[in-house]
Amino acid sequence: MITLSVIKADIGGYVGHSSMHPELIAKGQKNLEKAKAKGLLTDFHVTRCGDDLQLIMTHEQGEGNERVHKLAWDTFMDCTAIAKKLKLHGAGQDMLSDAFSGNVKGMGPGSAEMEFEERGSEPVLIFMADKTSSGAWNMPLYKIFADPFNTIGLVIAENMHAGFSFEVHEMKKHRKMIFDAPEEIYDMLALIGAPGRYAVKAVRHRPSGEIAAVSSTDKLYAIAGKYVGKDDPVLIVRSQGSFPAVGEVLEPFAFAQAVQGWMRGSHFGPLMPCSIAQSNPSRFDGPPRVVCAGFQLSGGMLVGPLDMFDDPSFDEARRQANIAGDYFRRHGPFEPHRLPLEEMEYTTMPKVTKKLRGRCVPID
Ligand code: F6R
Ligand code: MG
Ligand code: MG
Repeated sequence: MITLSVIKADIGGYVGHSSMHPELIAKGQKNLEKAKAKGLLTDFHVTRCGDDLQLIMTHEQGEGNERVHKLAWDTFMDCTAIAKKLKLHGAGQDMLSDAFSGNVKGMGPGSAEMEFEERGSEPVLIFMADKTSSGAWNMPLYKIFADPFNTIGLVIAENMHAGFSFEVHEMKKHRKMIFDAPEEIYDMLALIGAPGRYAVKAVRHRPSGEIAAVSSTDKLYAIAGKYVGKDDPVLIVRSQGSFPAVGEVLEPFAFAQAVQGWMRGSHFGPLMPCSIAQSNPSRFDGPPRVVCAGFQLSGGMLVGPLDMFDDPSFDEARRQANIAGDYFRRHGPFEPHRLPLEEMEYTTMPKVTKKLRGRCVPID
């Protein structure tokens, strides 16, 4: 069995919150190279999306392994030290705990992990987003694994015709529910259509139960108790064979869906698919970005990456994102560009509105 772990953190932006300084990536590579030499990791790839450092690791230690999580934590700490030295913006932003305690969960960094038996051919797609929150994968995951208008394999491939099961998490309450698609899609949509509250954590093949996709559902504000930046989630998807084809997995991103995030984590904006090199959210700190690194696994080795959105067939999605971005921006501080009030509770705005309370008098 091989475990694929993606652990990420925003530990300092360059310039502002737009991108990542190369020294941080180099340090990440150095640390993981050492861990590979010691046999803890089978292989790794260090990359970034916007200002988030992404550690993609394969190993045989299983999910939630303390040594692997400590390696990620220590690496983020080492990179934070460099970020502080360079005075990068928000150095150590996601490191919300003073000391490591067994697992990065609940400590700031986000993680998605899956353990499986590697197939004869094992294509995996790692999606990474910046300037948006957990739950942003709900619509793409629904389309990939439950919508025949996106995934023709659900209709015409016998090994996918039984559908997939979705594990849905109610993030704030730490509760979960399993839905079987296609039978229960209407029930499931009632929940996952509210991505601020519910997120698809995992998808499994039916009836085999084989893991198909896992996302990070870590909510930064719930951990920190205050606004410290958006979750910037990641997603792992296995592809081909009895899973949707690579093209079926990428297809939902040809539509720049509106997600929560963008400037100060307080706005709706279009999710723009782009190459890793172009994931430098600059306009109004955005618009939110999604990148995708594709690999073939070979005995746990990560053969790749292929930069999946570095493809002109996503040009129209990028253009659509820019047009939608203009439309949203023209609302300025008004909803629905700005998030609804319930969601603004988790931003810096309540500090401002608190001051206005004393001025409030009854209407006669
Ligand atoms: C959004 C984000 C940025 C910052 C903004 C203010 O996720 O990280 O939009 O919220 O640039 O940043 P500070 O408060 O660090 O000056
Ligand atoms: Mg940041
Ligand atoms: Mg970020």
